[in-house]
Amino acid sequence: MTEEQQLQAIKDFSYQKMKKDASGHNFDHIQRVVKTAKRLLTQEPADKLITLAAAYLHDVADDKLVSDPKELESEIQKFLLQIDLTSQQIEKILFITHNLSFSQSLDNPPKLSLEGQIVQDADRLDAIGAIGITRAIYYGGKHAETIYDPKILPRKNLNKAEYRNLSNETIINHFYEKLLKLTEMMNTPTAKEVAQARHQYMLDFLEEFKNEWNAER
Ligand code: ADP
Ligand code: NI
Repeated sequence: MTEEQQLQAIKDFSYQKMKKDASGHNFDHIQRVVKTAKRLLTQEPADKLITLAAAYLHDVADDKLVSDPKELESEIQKFLLQIDLTSQQIEKILFITHNLSFSQSLDNPPKLSLEGQIVQDADRLDAIGAIGITRAIYYGGKHAETIYDPKILPRKNLNKAEYRNLSNETIINHFYEKLLKLTEMMNTPTAKEVAQARHQYMLDFLEEFKNEWNAER
């Protein structure tokens, strides 16, 4: 198989796994992450197959989406062996998909390869800006979160365990607890630059939201 054929097979596999999901994690998200990863790849000397494979597969074994992430990881591993990836390539890809998440980078962040840093940046860019606002509201609606409650103050410096155990999060607090922190956590210079405008867009949104909430505008 050529690299292009392998990537096509990985794309098809990811589509089959992600198409049912409606938590804002669906295949559209995957395709945007792949597209952004391709853009970042033009500026970084990273391995294309590892980067794009990890981008396609990064949410397939997410513990928020499947009851048994371990089983999915071994399914991914088997599939990648079938399409002739080496065990070294597979190890690199699974390390990325396993260590990408925001909560994992809160304390003792795992050291990611350049390929992993690119996928992490691409995933994080999709969580901010206009798309990020939409995904947060969509997620919050699906999980019956309160939109906003000025009495529930955001906690901006949560550690891993605290973040994972957040219970009464509001949609607006999610911006302070995660989304506004992502810009300074970007790895690559290109992602840092792209993030600036998206970050400002969220700040403008929050300001307008609160003005309207208080009937000041
Ligand atoms: P990913 O790892 O792809 O960024 P997540 O599983 O963390 O995605 O979440 C999916 C989307 O829902 C993201 O855009 C994220 O910011 C948003 N989201 C996650 N948790 C919450 C929450 N408690 N309230 C509102 N939005 C959330
Ligand atoms: Ni994702």
